[in-house]
Amino acid sequence: MTEQSKHEVKFKRSSLKFSATTLKRIRQRICRIFTVPFREGMTILDGLLYIKENLDASLSFRTSCRMGICGSCGMLINDYPILPAIRR
Ligand code: FES
Repeated sequence: MTEQSKHEVKFKRSSLKFSATTLKRIRQRICRIFTVPFREGMTILDGLLYIKENLDASLSFRTSCRMGICGSCGMLINDYPILPAIRR
């Protein structure tokens, strides 16, 4: 592994990018990119909660147990139904 590629891997693991589509008025979608600090073992739900608590409080989603038991957080991510509480 070259010195430059080591740096790239380190950079990729220091943060994650989330894109979220929100509706601003009927039929007008806005896509925003959020950068979230990476933490080993974090789930997609952890990233969404970070965005809501630190970057954009208007981001809306449902969550309850945060452990993959209740199914409350189910959502479509890249057109696939996913439980973000258990997906990394
Ligand atoms: S919050 Fe319970 S499964 Fe996601």
